[in-house]
Amino acid sequence: SRRLRTVDLARRKAEGRKIVALTACHAQMAGLLDAHCDVILVGDSLGMVMHGMDSTLPVTLDMMILQAQAVMRGTRRALVVVDMPFGSYEASSEQAFASAARILKETGAGAVKLEGGARFAGTVAFLTQRGIPVMGHIGLTPQSIHTMGGFRVQGKGPDGQRLLLEDARAISEAGAFAIVLEGIVEPVARAIAGAPEVTAPTIGIGASPFCDGQILVLEDMLGLSERTPKFVRQFGSLRAHIEAAVRLYAEEVQAGRFPDDAHTYGER
Ligand code: KIV
Ligand code: NA
Repeated sequence: SRRLRTVDLARRKAEGRKIVALTACHAQMAGLLDAHCDVILVGDSLGMVMHGMDSTLPVTLDMMILQAQAVMRGTRRALVVVDMPFGSYEASSEQAFASAARILKETGAGAVKLEGGARFAGTVAFLTQRGIPVMGHIGLTPQSIHTMGGFRVQGKGPDGQRLLLEDARAISEAGAFAIVLEGIVEPVARAIAGAPEVTAPTIGIGASPFCDGQILVLEDMLGLSERTPKFVRQFGSLRAHIEAAVRLYAEEVQAGRFPDDAHTYGER
């Protein structure tokens, strides 16, 4: 079997089959997702999830490459997409190409993702025309937290729909193979997902059921993250499982019951 390719997502959309995506940054975890997910995103949310950062802004290209290498080693089937971190692509198309080329060359991943609407259409076209598939990301774009004034749901207000539809159209026409719609009110998300001029498949996170696919941050949907946004459904309860296992381990060590004979090397 071979890995899914960006063109396979377009086929999914044409056939009306939902695209399944999750984030991962860990080889073993990614291995568990591989059979079930079309897309595994090495998201820059790893800065907050793995490293306890307050935002995604401090994440570096080297951090993204290291975790993407781990995810590639742990998977064989899914399309692995890697986030371009803040500061690695905004200055110019040339800067974006240099960063994206490092990601593809050093990790073997199949595509990159970058945040931004119409203003980044030129960058998306530049990369796509030079052999680098790009996933767009519009709406609530966490790298713009300072200019957005916090994590705010997007698409409200009189111009909300017009501006976001324009962003989606521009990124799609620039050649993006898919677009993440994040934190967008339902009517606007629905309008974008259904717009004929937006040919790229839409992948929603907090952006209604009308998108062509869905993505969540893995640790959020597993019930590992302490606080999660409204749009997250916890499909598991890993916090409770891990806490129970660690508590039991501590009790058994303190009581001298671990290790027992079954877990101890004898003389031969
Ligand atoms: O970094 C990330 O996890 C993402 C997804 C939420 C789309 O960009
Ligand atoms: Na991200």
